[in-house]
Amino acid sequence: MKQRLVLVGFGNVGQGLLEILLKKRQELQARYGYEFVVVGIADVAWGTAYNPNGLNIEALLKAGKARQKFSQDLKEWDALTLIKESDANVVCELAFTNLQTGEPAISHCKAAFSAGKHVVTSNKGPAALAYRELKTMADEKGLRFLIEGTVMSGTPVLNLCAGPLAGCEIIAARGILNGTTNYILTQMEGGMSYDEALKKAQELGYAEADPSGDVEGYDARGKVTILANVVMNTSLKIAEVSCKGITGITLQDIEKAKKAGSRWKLIGSIKKEENRVTASVAPEMLPLTHPLAGVMGATNAITFTTDLLGDVSIVGPGAGRTETGFSILSDLLKI
Ligand code: HSE
Repeated sequence: MKQRLVLVGFGNVGQGLLEILLKKRQELQARYGYEFVVVGIADVAWGTAYNPNGLNIEALLKAGKARQKFSQDLKEWDALTLIKESDANVVCELAFTNLQTGEPAISHCKAAFSAGKHVVTSNKGPAALAYRELKTMADEKGLRFLIEGTVMSGTPVLNLCAGPLAGCEIIAARGILNGTTNYILTQMEGGMSYDEALKKAQELGYAEADPSGDVEGYDARGKVTILANVVMNTSLKIAEVSCKGITGITLQDIEKAKKAGSRWKLIGSIKKEENRVTASVAPEMLPLTHPLAGVMGATNAITFTTDLLGDVSIVGPGAGRTETGFSILSDLLKI
């Protein structure tokens, strides 16, 4: 059966996903028998397009590149109406992240489940603020709520824990979970100013629409909360995670660390002790011999401490258009 997709949000991730789907259509069909049709897209800037026979992906990508509104198969529908009325079976929720309320993404996910549709998302809002509620809603209806792209973009962190590491208990995790701040710290070490490095991270599509989410540590705090709740099966609230970002780190601090044979990194940590999970985000000065000290640029890394295997680490992209688009593809293939 062909997967019938609706995309809510057509920013970097939505466009990245369509580029991949277009490029790999034949390969995915030949290797996995995977077939898809994109029937709808809704975006506050581009408008809503719907065609049950399939939208023209090339035309959508052209509109995206030219920053022009959609011109074919237009509908006077908002995202919720598209989710409800379309005959899709999967909703890709790719709207902007809101880590305060999770909206409008939480409502999009609920509308999808109510309409009997799976949800695949890289949006950290619903995953960090309402994971348990949404997962329960999906489970009760025999649907999937898949969120691989919410942590370390397409680098398979959640799927690693759910799949190959399923027999292990995860006791702790420590990692670099925000690409923007790691990129900024890397550039500052090369002598670039904080402001210039942040501007570059925005140009490269790593930073959130409101970059304070990155530099104040809120994005990493959202990811730490998701990890705790998904891989440690707890109910940690985002407000329970202590959080400090990198805005206080100056070029002088970076130089001082360099002279001491160290490097600043924004570290997210989770620990399970006597069945209680605690978590934090804060900059740490790591000796250059530390495995996380060599992780540079927008690359992310995480080390899981497990009961049966000891430490298991994974390093990979943490942000980016194709990288996050890929995370959506991996969840679509999982369905
Ligand atoms: N702004 C995020 C980051 C994007 O820099 O890591 C990926 O979640």
